[in-house]
Amino acid sequence: MCGIIGYAGSDSDAIDVLLDGLSGLEYRGYDSAGVALSNQTLHVHKREGELSALESALPKSEYENESVGIGHTRWSTHGPPSDVNAHPHTDDQNRVAVVHNGIIENYQSLRDELTAAGIEFESDTDTEVVPHLISTYLADGIDRETAFRRAIDRIEGSYAVAAVFEGTNTIYAARRNSPLVLGIGNDGYYLASDVPAFIEYTDRVIYLDDGEFARLSPSEVVVTDADGTVVETSIETISWDPEDAGKSGYDHYMLKEINEQPDALRKCLRGRLDELEGTVDLESVPPIQASGAIQFVACGTSYHAAMYGARLLRDRGVSAQAFLASEYDEETIPVGGESVVVGVTQSGETADTMRALRAANRAGAKTIAVTNVVGSSAARECDHVLYIRAGPEIGVAATKTFASQQAALTMLACQLTENISRETIQALRDVPDLIQTVLDTSNARAVAETYEDADAYFFIGRGYQYPVALEGALKMKEITYKHAEGFAAGELKHGPLALVTENTPVFALVTGDDERANKTIGNVKEVEARDAPVVAVTDGRSEVERYADHVLEVPGAGGIASPIVANVQLQLVSYWVANRLGRSIDKPRNLAKSVTVE
Ligand code: M6R
Repeated sequence: MCGIIGYAGSDSDAIDVLLDGLSGLEYRGYDSAGVALSNQTLHVHKREGELSALESALPKSEYENESVGIGHTRWSTHGPPSDVNAHPHTDDQNRVAVVHNGIIENYQSLRDELTAAGIEFESDTDTEVVPHLISTYLADGIDRETAFRRAIDRIEGSYAVAAVFEGTNTIYAARRNSPLVLGIGNDGYYLASDVPAFIEYTDRVIYLDDGEFARLSPSEVVVTDADGTVVETSIETISWDPEDAGKSGYDHYMLKEINEQPDALRKCLRGRLDELEGTVDLESVPPIQASGAIQFVACGTSYHAAMYGARLLRDRGVSAQAFLASEYDEETIPVGGESVVVGVTQSGETADTMRALRAANRAGAKTIAVTNVVGSSAARECDHVLYIRAGPEIGVAATKTFASQQAALTMLACQLTENISRETIQALRDVPDLIQTVLDTSNARAVAETYEDADAYFFIGRGYQYPVALEGALKMKEITYKHAEGFAAGELKHGPLALVTENTPVFALVTGDDERANKTIGNVKEVEARDAPVVAVTDGRSEVERYADHVLEVPGAGGIASPIVANVQLQLVSYWVANRLGRSIDKPRNLAKSVTVE
């Protein structure tokens, strides 16, 4: 989704900071980019397409003395990608330039009002109403900051907004339901939607809260509330190493992040498991007596992790259910203080998940955020937060965060139910090494090459492997752009079997040798009988290999670790199919890393 960067510094290098910042935001997904530099006059440059298009269009040498500016990567919502629709947007006298993330819900009525007053709009965007509103107030003789605040007061919906004006070196910003973080550097101040935009310059940050405003100049940063009263802020230090956000020699972030899973998991587990005592200690989540239901809300990959978490709880005798956050409504919200709603969200900013969590907060449920991003909206707005500690994930396709979510949710289920065995602790402890074994020995690349021309890919699993089947299909479709679907293995015969042909490989997740495994083998036979190629993703405990054309091994002792390990094989298959097809693996078309609109 859209990304914002801003810099007010004492060094004359704003243009470099802005371009670095935009590059750090690329992973969020975008289709155009732009910058505005402010001083005596405003200079705005914007281009459809990759950042390189903007860079080529920028007369950089003309801006060597500029030290203040804002930049933006746009992910289209109102109007197609184009130079004109790209941000920043300005008023008709070029006095103010504005960048915006989010959706202005009342933009049409504002646009009608401004048009009736004789203002001509250039773009299709909702954002353009903001500079025109500000300009109207400036024309009434109102000072810049008040004009900015009045304009923000008029807009409804979600926004992170930043504005620069001609004739001043100050940036004004505000947020509601869309993230904004301030960076405190030695030679100036930064503003961004996300820390990777400025992590190479500073690791000291202030998170803006909803309803707050910020004023940044080269000499100070001031945060105020809606009434203009100065807010006391605390500076936090980010523990990410800038190197963590680089590719470290891998061709793609996705491959790097797949390979980081053993390390990410060790960090997730560190200090939280006590083998001798047989206990889990999630310091940030106190023991909660959940006498009501436990509900999970999440989207996409995080929803698959949530399904896994809900099953863990059900298997421990607790009534638990995972909901797609976008489908979670008033009727599903538990009433009273004894119910628990767990929001699973890597970014901590997903609009659908935040809406569901806010509704749960209002209904009086205890809320827990399971997230990767320190200081994110989910982390700040929930009663408790469990960090998955996966480190920055730049590839749009979630990989290491899924594994870390599964591990974190396993620990959470143990803590919430006070039900943990030494076997579970051992199984969790073994996961990083088992994943390393998969990474070192996987034949996923060969399997991918065999099936790169397939018409479609199907994934089946039961129990804990069902969410992994869904996740395998999601990964395949989002980075290869090919049709892929995941099914509960038992559902195949209720319709999807009609799709199966000799050119639709079926990936069957079969671990262990219990009734579930044997039933899935029955489904595999149904597939085999219709000449579809079968790829068994298995620990070799059952006889599924007999019916398979290929095997992807899942090392280890089975149990709760298997789904986490098995998924890595599927990540690798998708990666190599996408690689063979030459897809834009880290930034798949139409997708964004952080989805901040409903
Ligand atoms: O940041 P979140 O975990 O809340 O994001 C939710 C989904 O948008 C996300 O998991 C998405 O499905 C993945 N990036 C797909 O790989």
